[in-house]
Amino acid sequence: ALERTLSIIKPDAVAKNVIGEIYARFEKAGLKIVAAKMKHLSRKEAEGFYAVHKERPFFNALVEFMISGPVVISVLQGENAVLAHRELMGATNPKEAKPGTIRADFADSIDANAVHGSDATETAKVEIAYFFAETEVFPR
Ligand code: CMP
Repeated sequence: ALERTLSIIKPDAVAKNVIGEIYARFEKAGLKIVAAKMKHLSRKEAEGFYAVHKERPFFNALVEFMISGPVVISVLQGENAVLAHRELMGATNPKEAKPGTIRADFADSIDANAVHGSDATETAKVEIAYFFAETEVFPR
């Protein structure tokens, strides 16, 4: 099915100057960037975005990391976009990520893991709406 998913290029990958390399992987895989913005998240925004993780032991470190520098937030559209994006990213822990995935190539640790992607279509709807108004999404 034609789907949309939310992508975040995290502060570590922005600092490494690999925004374009990551975007190229999305486009080569047939995903279209239909919305995009660069943003330095406030603590409130990061905590709200990751609210499902708030009881997890890594929550504070995750929020600190996500507000440590600007991120690039995008909406990707394509056939099976949620799974296609997850396959491009590789496992959450870069040590477990398959060679050739974004996290294997650009991530340093489970915290500084280069990218975030929605884990399901329902989550994607919520995550996209968290950052983009429908007028800021340009399907084509
Ligand atoms: P992300 O896909 O952005 O969703 C939550 C983030 O928490 C995850 O990527 C990791 O960067 C971070 N994190 C840190 N420790 C863990 C852990 N043990 N399990 C899952 N995510 C973790």
